Formats: sequence, C-alpha cells, structure tokens
Amino acid sequence: MITNTELALKGNQFPNNIVSYNKNIDVLDFRTENDVTLQITIVRDSVIRFRYSTTSNFDKDFSYAITKYARTGYNYLEIEEAAEDYIITTQKLICHINKINLKVNIYDAKDNTLISHDELGFHWEESYEFGGDIVKMSKTSQDGESYYGLGDKPSHLNLKGKRFENWVTDSYAYGKDTDPIYKAIPFYTGLHHGKSYGIFFDNTFRTFFDFAHERKNVTSFWAQGGEMNYYFIYGPKMTDVVANYTDLTGKPHQLPALWTLGYHQCKWSYYPESKVKEVTAKFRELQIPCDAIYLDIDYMEGFRCFTWNKEYFPDPKRMVQELLEDGFKTIVIIDPGIKIDKDYEVFKEGLENDYFCRRADGPYMKGKVWPGECYFPDFTNPKVRDWWAGLFKELIEDIGVKGVWNDMNEPAIMEVPNKTFPDDVRHDYDGNPCSHRKAHNVYGMQMARATYQGLKKFGYPKRPFVITRAAYAGTQRYTSSWTGDNIATWEHLWIANVQAQRMALSGFSFIGSDIGGFAEQPNGELYARWIQLGVFHPFCRTHSSGDHGEQEPWMFGEEITRVVKKFIELRYQLLPYLYTSFWHYLNEGTPILKSLVLYDQEDIQTHYRTDEFIFGDQILVCPIIEANSKGRRLYLPKGNWYNYWNNKFSSGGKEVWVEADLDSMPLFIKEGAIIPKYPIQQYVGEKEINEVVLEVYYKKGKENSFLYDDAHDGYDYTKGRFSLRTFKLTGKTNELIIQQHKAGTFITGYKTFKLKLIGVPFNISKIQIDNEEIDFEAVKVNGDNTLIIDKDFTSLHIMQ
Ligand code: GLC
Repeated sequence: MITNTELALKGNQFPNNIVSYNKNIDVLDFRTENDVTLQITIVRDSVIRFRYSTTSNFDKDFSYAITKYARTGYNYLEIEEAAEDYIITTQKLICHINKINLKVNIYDAKDNTLISHDELGFHWEESYEFGGDIVKMSKTSQDGESYYGLGDKPSHLNLKGKRFENWVTDSYAYGKDTDPIYKAIPFYTGLHHGKSYGIFFDNTFRTFFDFAHERKNVTSFWAQGGEMNYYFIYGPKMTDVVANYTDLTGKPHQLPALWTLGYHQCKWSYYPESKVKEVTAKFRELQIPCDAIYLDIDYMEGFRCFTWNKEYFPDPKRMVQELLEDGFKTIVIIDPGIKIDKDYEVFKEGLENDYFCRRADGPYMKGKVWPGECYFPDFTNPKVRDWWAGLFKELIEDIGVKGVWNDMNEPAIMEVPNKTFPDDVRHDYDGNPCSHRKAHNVYGMQMARATYQGLKKFGYPKRPFVITRAAYAGTQRYTSSWTGDNIATWEHLWIANVQAQRMALSGFSFIGSDIGGFAEQPNGELYARWIQLGVFHPFCRTHSSGDHGEQEPWMFGEEITRVVKKFIELRYQLLPYLYTSFWHYLNEGTPILKSLVLYDQEDIQTHYRTDEFIFGDQILVCPIIEANSKGRRLYLPKGNWYNYWNNKFSSGGKEVWVEADLDSMPLFIKEGAIIPKYPIQQYVGEKEINEVVLEVYYKKGKENSFLYDDAHDGYDYTKGRFSLRTFKLTGKTNELIIQQHKAGTFITGYKTFKLKLIGVPFNISKIQIDNEEIDFEAVKVNGDNTLIIDKDFTSLHIMQ
C-alpha cells in the first residue's frame, strides 16, 4: 500500500519573489517564482480588488455579490518599480507590493498613514479532500483597532477579540454569540487612528474571520475553498466605506412601496379565514395602524408551496380582496422544499425539467422539511429561477397576494446533524458547476432573487416585496429580511438592536426582528419595549411561533395596548422621514440605521457603544432593554439635541440619564433638523395627505434636511416623477431662515406645510415668505408656535 503523507506535511505555503509584472489598463498581474499570481484591479480610487491564484491561472470570474451597476473608474493611477516594492498610487491610496514575498501594505495617499499591513499576507494549504486550496490572509491588527460589520452576528457590535464563521444556518432559538446563524456577509469595516476601511472577502465557501482573537495583533480571514479574492475599500469615513461596499454589492433595485414600511402582523399561523378576519378587524376596531397580514405555512395544502388549504381558505381570492379593501396587504410564506408527491403539479414540473438538486453520484437531494420528504430546486440555475418566478403568476396576478416571505432557504433540512444539504450536492452556479460547499451560502439569496423576479413580473407596475431569512452579500438588491427565530427575552431585545445595526453596517438596511420574540412569550412590558425599538427598524413586524400564546398588540392588557398603539402611530407619522431615509440609502448607499461609531468615528466614546443609534440622519434612538426601568443612561453623541418628548435641549459628548416610563423611550432630535410627519393613518393610503407637518428644531448655525416623496408605489419615480425638497436651515440669535430647494416633477397631494417651531430663542414679530412680509393672520401663526404655509415657498424668514 502506498501512503501519501506529503500533502499533509506541506502545511502552509507562501508566495515567494515576484518574477514578472504585467499591466493591462486597470488590471495588474504580479507573478512569483512559485507560480502565485496576484491580480490587482483598480475599481475606483478608493476600491482595489486583490485576487490570488496558486496555479498561475484564474477560474472564470463570476460573482453573485457584485452588481453590474457598481460604479467604476478612477481619477489617477501610477505604477512605479522601486528597489523593494512595486508602488501603485491612486488619488486615495498608495499600495506597496513587496518583491520578495508579495506582501501588500496600503497607505492613505493624503498623509501616508499605514492603513492595512499584511502580516503573513496571503498563504494557503492544499486541500487533498476536495482539491484546490484553503486560502488564507492575515493582516496586522493596528493599535486600538475596532471592527464592525459581518451581517447578523448576535454579538457585541465591535467584533474585536472574536472569531466568526460564515455558513448560512437555520438557528432556531439562537442566543447571544451563537455562530454562525442565518446570514453570510463576509464584509467588515476596520477603524484605527480615526480612519476607516473595509474588506469584502467575496468567497461563498465557508469563511472564517478572526479579529485579534487567536493572536492579539493579528486579524485574519480564510475560506475552505475558492479564491483569495477580496476588495479593499477605503474611507477614511466609515459612511463612505459602507456606501462604497453597498454600491459594489448593490442597492435595492427599487424603493419599497410605502405600505411595506407600515406595521406588519404575523404569526405561525393565522388560520382559518375567520381567524385572519378576526385579527384584522380587531386592528381596525382598536384603531391600531397595520398594513400587512401574514399567512404562515398552514395556509397551504399539506405544506405544498403554491397550493391552498381549501378547508381553511375556501376562496383565497375573495378573502385577499376583502382584506385589501380594509387596507390589509396579504403576504404568504413560500419555502424551498417541494413535497415529493407524484400528483403535485410543481413537483411534477420540477422533475420533468430536471430542476431539482442532485447528489454527486446522481440521485436527487432528498431531505425532510415541513411537508415531509422533499426535493429542492437548484436556484443557482437561471432556468430554474425563471421557472420559479413563473410559479407566482396565480398567487400574485390572480389572487392578489402583495408580498412573499421566503423561509427555510439556508436551505434548512430537519433531522440531520448538519441541518442542511450534504457537501456533495451539485449546483449549476450559473454555468459554473460546483458542489454545495461553494453554493450553500448563496442558495437562499438565489431563491429570494427568483421570488423577487416573479413578484416584479406579475405584480407590475407595483413594486415587489420579498422577505428572506438566508442571505449572502448583495441580497439587499432583491429583498428585505428578518433576523430569524429569536426568543422572547430581554437579552434578545439587545440582540435585535445590535443585529439590525450590524446588518445596516453590512449594506443591508431593510431589516427587522420578530417583535416580541418568536419562541416563548413576552410579558406586556417586554412586548411594549420591543415595539418601541421595532418601530425604528426599517422592517417592522410582530411574529411569534404561536404555540406560546397570542402576540397581537392587544393581548397584554389595556395599558400595554395603549403604549403599543402610541408607538405604531409614531411610526406612521414618521413615514415620510423613513421613506426619505430609504431614498438616501438607494441613492448614496448610506445605511438607514447608523451606529454611533458610524455617526461620529472620531469620538472614541462611540467605538464600543451598542445600544444607541441614529435612525435616518437626525433622530437618536435608544431602546430600554431592561425590565422595570424608569429610564436609562445613554451616550448622547457630540452636538446638541432636543429630547423628543419635552423639547428639552442638551449638549452631547457625554453620558446622560434619560427618564423613560413604560409609555416613553429615549428619543432625541438633532438640533437644526426639520422632521416631516404625516397624519396618523390606519394604513398607508387610508387618507389623502393634505398637509405635512414639519417639526423645525432651532439651531444657531446651519443644518440641511430632506423630504422625498413620490407616488408611493410604481416606477414613475425612476423617470423623474418624484419630489425632493431640501431644506436649508440657518439660525441666528434673532433670526431663523429656511430655504427650500425643489427637484423632480412629481406634484405632491399636499398643498401646505404646517411648521412647528421648536426651541426658537426669540419672540417672533416679523415673518417674510419669499421676501414678502406676511401678516400673522394670513399664515395662521398660532399661539403654539405653528404656522401654515404654502408647500412651494423658497425662503422663509422668521425674525424677532
Ligand atoms: C421558521 C421561521 C418562522 C416560521 C416557521 C414556520 O421557523 O423562521 O418564522 O414561522 O418556520 O413556517
């Protein structure tokens, strides 16, 4: 018998000296004597791609994460050969490639600060079992460096000192620090010496990140296969890092319809029809706003996707229509497992067309999920995605369902130890056939993409609405998401807060948690506190497993119902503000939730804060996450703030105690902000909006605010039919000036603004609108410092 021990003995291998260098416009190839090639692509002045091959050949370049709409192009590029290094200079970065060992150092081109330093740099181990390499990278962790990002990790916001794994996993009732869970977003942001950069390791295999955990001064990342292929994204502002990453992996393809930003009610499961109607009727009876009602797996016939249980739902089309007339959009769950059943149309079609995943040696991938034994569509095959999209015709076009919730798409398999497909399952991977080792992390993303295509096609001209549990980098282009099966505990309220912020820092802003907790049951206090946080998450839905009791807003007694109603109403008032934040996210890639570190990275007090965040640009939110609280301490970032509830003015840059009884929570408005508000509606579109309230928070100095509006659905806005108002506020000791600039051709329904002036330090005696003096009667100045003016003013001048 021949025993080959040579491979095992090889261990880590390293590139050696560079023997050739080749430049082709923006792509530079450096080849070493031992056949390692480093291919560097200058994507932008601040974005450089590093790609390594150990065989001197690269496989076809293909990525599910990178969008074709990503901005490319740089202003400056120079390559110089020095004694020890090749030196690449762009307008933003200087990059040294060592001639002896291929190690890379990256500096800020402005002031030569060392931003990224290869410790061992690129190295690899050959993989005997699967072929190819285990690819590795290690970099020096700089003094005082902090780390953020990485998707949905339920850990401290600052990742320093920890190790993580990215392998999309069904994680029922996960806890703090459980790893991995549902999402794989191999992107992190580093921050040291006041400067921030990002690394996106675009590798879909199982990846690992170690942030100074194993060795104090080393950060490393590696993958069990594929290429060492990462993008270095420079700031130095963290907002720019996240925005550039989001640009690279894609912003949502369209704005969400406004109703999707309303409140959603879900449970496993509402059935039969009479139960659904009972719940929706109660919302209207109690006047608690709600836009969406969900049908979990029990609406189907034996959990067969695209079927209805006719006993529970005898006439789905009629029911969906009736719900809609009452303002409720119906959203249904669709899982990937297709029941093995020779009489089931979807199964038959999948089988006939060979659309299901197969094991390495040919048999179909068989696994147990809710319906029992199932086969699974290979969503990495474009033909399968087309077929899948087509399956939504009846649900969307005929029955009138408005949104689809994709679950179990890790893919989750029951009663097997690894909870998912075995490694050998084959995938098309868009014409790059591979095993599940490579396709696993994108399976759910491609399912959500196919679902999105179906909704887009059959819902047209309405905007599609999809929710997914599993995700890889770039999934934000197609869908919203929630954080999976959490638990009704106070600790999970903390987790939900961190996860939503972290997802936003990872390019994925349309996120929320199961409000109140999925497993077990919250008491009224926990539910109320969770709602208070949830109304500030872009996706706002109560969901629960159902076997632990009821979780509708009115299930916890009158006092709690009142608190919940108050906060859901606040959400509906703030819809124009949230919609405007979405518009910023879509255009600039800036996250909707901003952790304090992203808001003010120069203030080191923010680097380890987890609880406070900025909602949009100007509202500071800090949830109460402990029982029996009368308030809490929080860090008010630098600058001046108004307490939302009592308009009390405070200076930031310090910790403060804030009162917050159960019917309140700490909320602060940045000085100078102009916050737009709609009237309370029971659902989006219930009322014609005739007037928008602008809450104007006086500042001595300048501040810009925005108000975006359009038809709230459809695509006309992409043709210029939107309305974007920029308000420039300038406050002086005895004057307040607001200038308005308008863009877009959409004519809003509202005609007037009702301005509420807050914190104005002088008595108003004179008002000019567009340089004309107005008598107080005409603009209806009220005793309470409000005034109503035409929405199209260009300048408003308020004087002592
Ligand atoms: C999974 C989902 C949960 C859903 C349940 C039944 O546990 O995460 O949200 O209610 O399946 O479909």
